[in-house]
Amino acid sequence: MYQKLTTCLRSVREKIDFKPEVAVVLGSGLGDYVQQVRIEQTMDYAQIKGFPVSTVKGHKGRFVFGYVKEVPVVIMQGRVHYYEGYPMSEVVLPTRLMGMLGAKKILLTNAAGGVNPSFQPGDFMMITDHITTGIPSPLIGPNIDELGPRFPDMSEVYSRRLQDVIRTCAKEGGIDLKEGVYVQFSGPNYETPAEIRLARTWGADAVGMSTACEAVAARHMGLAVCGISCITNMAAGLSNEKLSHAEVQETADRVAASFQELVTRIVAAM
Ligand code: HPA
Repeated sequence: MYQKLTTCLRSVREKIDFKPEVAVVLGSGLGDYVQQVRIEQTMDYAQIKGFPVSTVKGHKGRFVFGYVKEVPVVIMQGRVHYYEGYPMSEVVLPTRLMGMLGAKKILLTNAAGGVNPSFQPGDFMMITDHITTGIPSPLIGPNIDELGPRFPDMSEVYSRRLQDVIRTCAKEGGIDLKEGVYVQFSGPNYETPAEIRLARTWGADAVGMSTACEAVAARHMGLAVCGISCITNMAAGLSNEKLSHAEVQETADRVAASFQELVTRIVAAM
């Protein structure tokens, strides 16, 4: 796997000389965010040999290199998900690659279902911690010693310093910000009401199909991690609505402007 990573790194470095400081992963509905970025270079995932390519509608697949305010960033416009059939080690390959490209900090974003009954569709939730019990660890398999230790500490996956930065950014932008624990399930089916009740007793506030595995891989290699969920729907059993990807996209689109503003503030301040 490390060899695969270095091959990917070489194939990016042949075309791109940009040195990012911050990595950003854009979730559902946030793809348009790159319009806010002073783009220097882009690279389609398909151009990178051996790279996993997303199959989800609405997920473009490319790296965008450029500046948010004055901060050099690499952005994943489109991610791959475990439910697409890639092994976890492949799902987190792009995250690791962004670390190997030089990013020291990473902002993860996603669309998520609200598990905390006080949440509403359209809310933003800063991720304070996560639960990956329902998915395999992306670190299973031989450890990549070049990246990090066999048994990495996960007691502070989401940097406390970055959490403070995010709180300040939201306050300054007049953007209401919830906080909570994100639980990742595999998808692609939405959860059952019983699974959501289970997640609630576990201590989860939001549920999704991405992000936590990327956070684990990023933390393993020593990146400072932070994350924001856009609550696009109430999770199964918490409302009378049936869950659909259309609802997820509708809500994400509705609040995209303030989500983008929040992301810009965070990247500029982290
Ligand atoms: N469950 C899982 N993933 C999601 C949801 C959900 O309710 N909403 C958006 N992504």
